[in-house]
Amino acid sequence: PAPLLPAPPLFHTGAHVMPLTIIIGAQWGDEGKGHITDRLAQDAAVVARYSGGDNAGHTVTIGGEVFKLHLIPSGIIHRGVVCLIGNGAVVNPVVMLREMDALAARGLDVGPARLRLSGGAHLITPGHIAMDRAHERERGRGAIGTTLRGIGPAYTDKARRIGLRAELLANPAALAAALVDHLAAKNEVLVKVYGEPPLDADALLADYAAQAARLAPHLVDGPVLLDEALARGETVLAEGAQGTLLDLDHGTYPFVTSSSPTAGGAITGLGVGPRHVDRVIGVAKAFTTRVGGGPFPTELDGEAATRLRGTGENPWDEFGTTTGRPRRVGWLDLPILRHARRVNSLSELVLTKLDILSGLAEIPVGVAYDVDGRRRADFPTDLSALARCRPVYETLPGWREDITGARRPSDLPANARRYVDFVAEHTGAPISYVSVGPGREQFIELGDRD
Ligand code: IMP
Repeated sequence: PAPLLPAPPLFHTGAHVMPLTIIIGAQWGDEGKGHITDRLAQDAAVVARYSGGDNAGHTVTIGGEVFKLHLIPSGIIHRGVVCLIGNGAVVNPVVMLREMDALAARGLDVGPARLRLSGGAHLITPGHIAMDRAHERERGRGAIGTTLRGIGPAYTDKARRIGLRAELLANPAALAAALVDHLAAKNEVLVKVYGEPPLDADALLADYAAQAARLAPHLVDGPVLLDEALARGETVLAEGAQGTLLDLDHGTYPFVTSSSPTAGGAITGLGVGPRHVDRVIGVAKAFTTRVGGGPFPTELDGEAATRLRGTGENPWDEFGTTTGRPRRVGWLDLPILRHARRVNSLSELVLTKLDILSGLAEIPVGVAYDVDGRRRADFPTDLSALARCRPVYETLPGWREDITGARRPSDLPANARRYVDFVAEHTGAPISYVSVGPGREQFIELGDRD
């Protein structure tokens, strides 16, 4: 029989328990969450992905070496950290194995002791990917601009209660039977509704059987793994993907992803109760970006946009990690950050890429919206209301200095510090870290977070 777990620490005594920290994107994704996750993972026992799939792209730069991950939590780079893909995520086995192989080729341990897949996560199949493509084509000019990774259709099947859960990977006969039904249903729609060729079921079954054999040893009951870690007093880091404004409930619907990247999604996605949560860290760029369609009040074009986007030569330039698409860029929008603070109960903000603003004489910051002559301070997620919002800017003085070498708050020029303070003041969220470059050490810890 399994040994009894040690009794969990008692919350009501006020005893300090090592907690769950949630890292979420405060904008439309691509805020640099991998960067701060990498930093905090140094002190964590478990790093867990709670929503989304390989639509995400996390770039972590260590000693000049760039790691691009889509699915596997970026904690994998730290030896000794257990990485978990939780129930709320959707997993394409092909992608998971490809990333495992690439990491293993760089000498990283991706064995079952280090990389765990919760049985309640859902699987993505080529059928989902084909449907994603067909849906986008059908939307025409109103396309969402999805990453075409099958994310929406996989979550649709989950909600329809016809999804394929990862636990099937341990049961070849049940997996084959489920795949036969799944492909028959998808082919029916692909052929009859969308006029697409059918998927080859035999080839897919063979592929899936081979992938299942490799992934089955990684299966685990995610909530149990996390409960045990928390009971031992270990720190768990919930690594967000995407961002608050891509949340199915709290984003710019329908221009969102099909999961819950917000803090609530971490709770349901991992199966850990909210009383474990100690910190909710919102990661925001010092300006704003978005990929795909949908509203973007402070969006820029022309030279100003090119200036913020970069050329694509550097790993941190604004081109999608997953799709390579140039990102849409604009000035910082504080109503968005206030929205993120509210729906995630952020304990703090991390402001990334402050260095990109160096050299600008003046930096406009969106502080509110003008709606038909009236000022509005909050971010409406109703698209018709949002369409009438014109950003109201306050212009802050810029700084000339290169800040990529700054490591302490006092290394920042006065105007850079003023910019950071302005964001904290106008969002009500203290800023705990500022990043000034893609390197692991290019961080400034600002201290107080409460
Ligand atoms: P999907 O998640 O592939 O269905 O895409 C839905 C929307 O979310 C599209 O606008 C995508 O560009 C966007 N999206 C999905 N994942 C990410 C991400 O990791 N970063 C930024 N945008 C994303």
